[in-house]
Amino acid sequence: MIIEECPTVLRLKHREDFVVTPQVESCANRALSYLEAGYPVHFSGPTGTGKTSMALYVAERLGQPVILIHGDEEYGSSDLVGGIHGYRFSKVVDNFIHSVLKTEETVRKQWVDNRLTTACKHGFTLLYDEFNRSRPEANNALLPILEEKVLELANVGEPYLQVNPKFKALFTSNPMEYAGVHTTQNALIDRMVTIKLHHFDRDSEIAITQAKSGLPLELAEKVVAIVRDFREQNGNHRPTVRASIMIARVVAQRCLGVSPEDTDFAEVCRDVLCMVDQEKAGNGQALKEKVNKVLEKQAGWFRRKRPKRERVQQDIK
Ligand SMILES: Nc1ncnc2c1ncn2[C@@H]1O[C@H](COP(=O)(O)OP(=O)(O)OP(=O)(O)O)[C@@H](O)[C@H]1O
Ligand SMILES: [Mg+2]
Repeated sequence: MIIEECPTVLRLKHREDFVVTPQVESCANRALSYLEAGYPVHFSGPTGTGKTSMALYVAERLGQPVILIHGDEEYGSSDLVGGIHGYRFSKVVDNFIHSVLKTEETVRKQWVDNRLTTACKHGFTLLYDEFNRSRPEANNALLPILEEKVLELANVGEPYLQVNPKFKALFTSNPMEYAGVHTTQNALIDRMVTIKLHHFDRDSEIAITQAKSGLPLELAEKVVAIVRDFREQNGNHRPTVRASIMIARVVAQRCLGVSPEDTDFAEVCRDVLCMVDQEKAGNGQALKEKVNKVLEKQAGWFRRKRPKRERVQQDIK
């Protein structure tokens, strides 16, 4: 996504290498229908399933300014809502009659809105990426916003703010992440529609790999076939589409042949695919053998897929 405008309020425009496949389009349309019905949407799924990209795309389609927040362990509610940040000091000096000097000094607490308040006040789209990385108590302010459409502001003249009807909210989270995340309050999940994302379908993964690497379709297909085969062998969990993109980019940059028999290509595949699982990384040899097996299997498959004429010519040689 290309992000423009000032640091807190964004206007989104997707990048040229963002692809809208039927899978992407159908998911975005579902999300938009829930948002238009007044419900916040939550994209949930394992790493690399396109949650953030999808949320950004849907936010762009809503066509209004976007406030982006990334969940953070360190956040308190004032980081989202706002708080008293210092004092406003004003001094009026009245010297209208030169022999009379009148001064008046006032000190007021200074409330500064934070991003959530800005979005609620002006009716922007809130995109809260990986919201379960923030502690549940920091996210409590969202409960009345999403249900009663009011925001509670502590310690200011106006204790409540009516949420602007244009306000929309998108969330993402990875329920399978084990590092640095919190269990989300049921009350929050209950207020949003959760769309579960899984790995991209084959056509989408090929289109994304092709768009991000610039490889021709036929080569992107081969790279994706290897990654998807390895993923299946690995319990359909990882590697993600990022592995397809990484291999394809290196192939494009080094002009490698996409053939499992090409030793440089095989090495790149082993380097990228063997990092699928931190826990198994110690047992590198077993993983390498697994990759080799996938490459051998795919080599056979590629050979069978070769056009007949090419095979015949080679046989004659
Ligand atoms: N429609 C798309 N077009 C082009 N690239 C895409 C598309 N969807 C996802 N990608 C790419 O796929 C990769 C994974 O997507 P993304 O970062 O959105 O996943 P995620 O689920 O948010 O992952 P994580 O949980 O690790 O944050 C990224 O490189 C992203 O640019
Ligand atoms: Mg993400």
